[in-house]
Amino acid sequence: MERIVYTSRARTDLASDEVFRIIETSARNNPARDVTGFLIFNQNRFLQLVEGERQALDELLGVLKRDPRHCDLAIHVREPAIKRCFPNWRMRRLGSASEGGAEILHILAERDIGPQCMQLVGEFLTYSEVVSQKRSA
Ligand SMILES: Cc1cc2nc3c(=O)[nH]c(=O)nc-3n(C[C@H](O)[C@H](O)[C@H](O)COP(=O)(O)O)c2cc1C
Repeated sequence: MERIVYTSRARTDLASDEVFRIIETSARNNPARDVTGFLIFNQNRFLQLVEGERQALDELLGVLKRDPRHCDLAIHVREPAIKRCFPNWRMRRLGSASEGGAEILHILAERDIGPQCMQLVGEFLTYSEVVSQKRSA
C-alpha cells in the first residue's frame, strides 16, 4: 500500500461543474482500482492525495498525466502506507463552499496522514502556486 500526494495546474479556468465532474468520475472509477483519497481545488490548482496498491496508483497516474484538464503534475510525496487514512472516501472533494482551510486541516488532523502531507496541504491552501511550482521547476 502506498500514498501519493501530487499537485497540478488546471489548464484553463475550469468551471466549478468540471471539478464536480472529475469527482463524480473518480468516485465511480476508483473502487475498481481500490483507490481512495481526496481532491482540493484552490486558486486554479489541484492537490490530490491517493492511496492504494502500487500498481493501481501507477495505472491511475498514467491516466492522470494524459488528462488535458490539467498540466504540470508534480508528485510531492510517494510513501509506503501501512493502512488507509480514508477507507470510505472513493474521492472526496475538500474545500468546496463551506469548508475553509482551517476546516480542511482539522478534518485531516484526525486522519493521521503524517507531518509531511499535513505541511504540504497547509502550504498548498495558503500558497497553491508556490507549492505547485516547487517540484515542477
Ligand atoms: C485533478 C484530477 C484528478 C482526477 N482524479 C481521478 C481519480 O482519482 N480517479 C479517476 O478514475 N479519475 C480521476 N481523474 C479523471 C481521469 O483523468 C480520467 O479523465 C478518468 O479517469 C476517465 O474516466 P472514464 O474513462 O470513466 O471517463 C482526475 C482528473 C483530474 C483532472
